[in-house]
Amino acid sequence: MESIQAIKQRFEIIGNDPKLNRAVEKAMQVAPTDISVLVTGESGVGKESIPKIIHALSHRKHGKYIAVNCGAIPEGTIDSELFGHEKGAFTGATATREGYFEVADGGTIFLDEVGELPLTTQVRLLRVLENGEFIKVGSSQVQKTNVRIVAATNVNMFDAIEKGKFREDLYYRLSTVEIMLPPLRERKEDVHLLFRKFSSDFAHKYKMPPIKLDDDAVSLLQKFRWSGNIRQLRNVAEQISVLEANRNITLASLRAYLPEEGSNLPAVVRDKKPESDFSNEREILYKVLFDMKSDLNDLKKLTMELMQNGNTSKVQETNKGLIQKIYGAQNGDTHEDFENLPSTNVFAPQKVSRPEPPVIEEDDDDDSNYLFAETVEEEETLRLDEREIELIKKALERNKGKRKAAADELGISERTLYRKIKQYDL
Ligand SMILES: Nc1ncnc2c1ncn2[C@@H]1O[C@H](COP(=O)(O)OP(=O)(O)OP(=O)(O)O)[C@@H](O)[C@H]1O
Ligand SMILES: [Mg+2]
Repeated sequence: MESIQAIKQRFEIIGNDPKLNRAVEKAMQVAPTDISVLVTGESGVGKESIPKIIHALSHRKHGKYIAVNCGAIPEGTIDSELFGHEKGAFTGATATREGYFEVADGGTIFLDEVGELPLTTQVRLLRVLENGEFIKVGSSQVQKTNVRIVAATNVNMFDAIEKGKFREDLYYRLSTVEIMLPPLRERKEDVHLLFRKFSSDFAHKYKMPPIKLDDDAVSLLQKFRWSGNIRQLRNVAEQISVLEANRNITLASLRAYLPEEGSNLPAVVRDKKPESDFSNEREILYKVLFDMKSDLNDLKKLTMELMQNGNTSKVQETNKGLIQKIYGAQNGDTHEDFENLPSTNVFAPQKVSRPEPPVIEEDDDDDSNYLFAETVEEEETLRLDEREIELIKKALERNKGKRKAAADELGISERTLYRKIKQYDL
């Protein structure tokens, strides 16, 4: 049997932390069996290498290995993705399709973010785990498959069970053996090792000399909380590697790349405001934005008519109501909704780096009216996106990266939040 060190080398796992070694060792021990394994640990701790080790050291190593990100697949299609569907099972099901559990027969399926599975899918999964049986969507025929399941989660499954979002029986079935990966802040000895490895990788990638930390910088690195764990450390190493002309990194230059811990939020949001206030503000903001959009549409309509008609007074006459609606509000009376916003609100202008305004490309067969309308819409969308990104970032920061809590606070599902994070690359 290969040693732990050899396995770590093979799977490019850096570090000598005893808890990390224990996790790798456990993966090696359970690999030859068909026991279900649940990999747990915060986001960015390196959970994804564990199922790979398990598959590679199992008798299934020549079979398929399929990694499924349960949080990223829309609820409406996940059953069909996992278990397949019959032709005609739903609109668009033009042919019979095999699901992952059929394709991976004889191999391993890694169910990442398993806590995100809808309850109906959990029922199907339990059945496969219990007797290897599944039924394609839209079919009544029971099929058999022989798949080893490794699942991973960065959320507290007991919380999910308590809230009725995850079946307790499935949890126990999935977690016959649990492999926990420690957060980076508990791996003080490994932090610098990992940083050096990333620095050398990025030096190679960007064809620059590797950066080097002085002693004070190293101790800051070790004291830092690393809420995004190794993923965050890697990002910091990449940024410094690319941006710092001086390759000797001091405490001060390192600090510039680390977010201020705990103090990067307005205290008023964290300490004083009840959560409901936040969602009220959000509602008001959305209302303001939608009202603005409707005003803009009216304006567009008016402009278009002016351009097409030319006769200003006639347009004025026929659009009296509209003109009053648009311009009435501007003369003195501010938007009432804005006044409802608390003076120290989270949407007040902040140090947000705004993207450059969109570049409008000339389009030959486009008339200028149309181009104008498009531009306004594009800018609006951009600004809405920006606000959304800001809201999500803040909610995540406030909840220390816990997606579940952030989603609750934002009043959206975890799945939606997950997709937004992916969409905006947060
Ligand atoms: N011990 C390690 N040595 C080197 N790189 C590592 C190690 N652990 C993790 N990484 C790197 O850190 C990044 C994050 O790891 P990974 O994607 O496995 O996180 P995760 O635990 O699955 O997080 P999430 O729950 O957010 O999906 C990856 O780029 C991975 O290669
Ligand atoms: Mg992952």
